[in-house]
Amino acid sequence: MRLTVIGTGYLGAVHAACMADIGHEVLGVDIDAEKIAALAEGRVPFFEPGLQEVLGRTVGSGRLRFTTSLEEAADFGEVHFVCVNTPQRRDSPACDLRAVDAVIDALAPRLSRACLIVGKSTVPAGTTARLTARVQELVPPGSDVEVAWNPEFLREGFAVQDTLRPERLVAGVLSGRADQALREVYAPMLRAGVPYISTDPATAELVKVAANSFLATKISFINAMAEVCDATGADVTTLADALGHDTRIGRRFLSAGLGFGGGCLPKDIRAFTARADELGVGDAVLFLREIDEINTRQRRRTVDIARDMVGGEFTGRRIAVLGATFKPDSDDVRDSPALAVAAAIHREGAEVRLHDPEGTDNARAVLPVLGYAADVTKACEGADLVLHLTEWSDYRRIDPAALAAVAPARRILDARNALDPASWRAAGWTLRALGRPLPPPLPNQQSAADHVPAVCSAEVG
Ligand code: UDX
Repeated sequence: MRLTVIGTGYLGAVHAACMADIGHEVLGVDIDAEKIAALAEGRVPFFEPGLQEVLGRTVGSGRLRFTTSLEEAADFGEVHFVCVNTPQRRDSPACDLRAVDAVIDALAPRLSRACLIVGKSTVPAGTTARLTARVQELVPPGSDVEVAWNPEFLREGFAVQDTLRPERLVAGVLSGRADQALREVYAPMLRAGVPYISTDPATAELVKVAANSFLATKISFINAMAEVCDATGADVTTLADALGHDTRIGRRFLSAGLGFGGGCLPKDIRAFTARADELGVGDAVLFLREIDEINTRQRRRTVDIARDMVGGEFTGRRIAVLGATFKPDSDDVRDSPALAVAAAIHREGAEVRLHDPEGTDNARAVLPVLGYAADVTKACEGADLVLHLTEWSDYRRIDPAALAAVAPARRILDARNALDPASWRAAGWTLRALGRPLPPPLPNQQSAADHVPAVCSAEVG
């Protein structure tokens, strides 16, 4: 089929390449000429494992092309996928739909051939209905254009695999014809047995925000348990393992730590509460405000514990920060918990030196005031404290004994519960983690730094 993919960010670039990979003729469209030039040369302008290979072979095959012209896209496509950003509005928790609206306003008047517009961006329930009315106003007389919603569930870092082998496909359609077109687009996935749920647009829109709300709730639940563990001396990782064996609960998304960030979970739960308020059902999702609050509290708790570990204040302290991105295997620093903590500690007077395997350029663009190190050793040289804030696998391979040679204070806070406490402690490090007990003090060795504070006072994020 002839598809266009409008918006070639993390979502659109992956969708375009993967749709070409399964055999479609694809035209990627973006207003950012630089990004389009890179993609047209087969270069991925951001970090996403596996995408380079798929982009290279599909651009090479001639099935994937790129343009900045919506005119060209309107002439080309049987199905137009809308993959533009729907961030949080600056002035409220609601979703900023300006990019989606701008695409519709520019595309619809140019649609002279029968086609389907399929939204993939995350939007508030009711958006397809609103856009359908708008499209009917704008299309040339006699044009046969329909709108459908097909939310995207891909995770950064696994975007290619999530697109080629999704766990489910959800189609919010207004007609059998639209449903048929989407079944044709995804024919190879359907043949491979991927569940395909055909429903109305409002349900499809809700599936996405409900899924992200559930995931956010799961993370904040275990982080709330981590706070209780800190107060009782229990171990949240063992608790999560034990809970996770219950197949009704499951272990995934039950890792306690610094909490969730990124371009999706935080803004999606806020936009959901805003939309529920508009619909008069705000009380039904009131709990999401608490989920958000628990999440932000992890950042404050991390700063408080870090401050405690360096003797009560950051001024004049040298702090190494390992990790800037909101999660490993991504270069994305949007609403990154790691960066929020680094910024807060810097504001309190610490000298911060940060390392991240892929996210340094993006982090520096947001926070140029921090120090940046090319490798872990340089970040940790002379550090009074090392903060492990994003669980890149590289950091689990650090040799604690070797690192002790450059950071003789040997203090580390594992805010992602991903390091092996025993090996760090065996190398003489004082290791603290969120929701995990300290080892029993050796006789005559009780240290003030081994006390987990009960109060959380820092302003973060
Ligand atoms: C998320 C959804 O998973 C995806 O389906 C949707 O399409 C977009 O939003 P993504 O933003 O890529 O994907 O990140 P995800 O892997 O879901 O992680 C979100 C955040 O939760 C990260 O900051 C991660 O560190 C954190 N997290 C995840 C935890 O703190 N604990 C966990 O157990 C799992």
